[in-house]
Amino acid sequence: MRKKIVAGNWKMNNDLSATEELVAKLQKKLPETDAEVMVAPAYTNLFTAFEALRQSPIEVIAQNMHFAENGAYTGEISAEMLKSVGVQTVILGHSERRAYFGETDDILAKKVDAALAKDMTVMFCFGEELNDRKSDNHFKVVESQLKNALFHLESSAFKHVILAYEPVWAIGTGETATPEQAQEMHKFIRETLAKQYNDTVAESTSILYGGSVKPTNAKEIFSQPDVDGGLIGGAALKASDFIAIIEAI
Ligand code: PGA
Repeated sequence: MRKKIVAGNWKMNNDLSATEELVAKLQKKLPETDAEVMVAPAYTNLFTAFEALRQSPIEVIAQNMHFAENGAYTGEISAEMLKSVGVQTVILGHSERRAYFGETDDILAKKVDAALAKDMTVMFCFGEELNDRKSDNHFKVVESQLKNALFHLESSAFKHVILAYEPVWAIGTGETATPEQAQEMHKFIRETLAKQYNDTVAESTSILYGGSVKPTNAKEIFSQPDVDGGLIGGAALKASDFIAIIEAI
């Protein structure tokens, strides 16, 4: 059975004390759930969040990492550094990394390899832009993102891969894919996995939806058969909204 996951991507928000505050609220109010709950604070707050959540089922994950093991890469963070502060899972390929920091499929393939080589789990983000959808190229774009960054992997690697489909036009815009649009794409992604690998990989890989998930729309999106949870941005910054989204799954 594939896992249900609700992950909060805090992006470049929350300083140390705001992180401590949010983590404390989440820990206190976390509802009973069989879903895995994850939060991704900024690098500078990972260790504090990890320490605070040691006794909690909430997993602290990172928003990014570099592909090199170490060396002259000013401003970058390696897999080992993340692991040394308790982080086991890393988000890679977020559309903001692709759009503002020039991360290409080739770079992402290297990052994926580097994370998996250190026994980390990868939460791999991908999704089409608005013009791709308008020109009816969204399936093609998504397929090529998966192919270029992930399909060099052996099928066994997918035990450590979580997929997060995030249509760029729905991220931080308030505009959400309809549950039908999400389901249609998630089904396509699963079929693509089955074609490239096999039914076991397709059926056991969690595919999250991301893009303006809120307490008001979470339930409907999560009830789609191929949607296994969500990657939440804006709504993850408010404890009560994030809790309501966890309750929705
Ligand atoms: P959003 O962000 O929920 O604010 O749209 C989602 C994401 O960027 O992962």
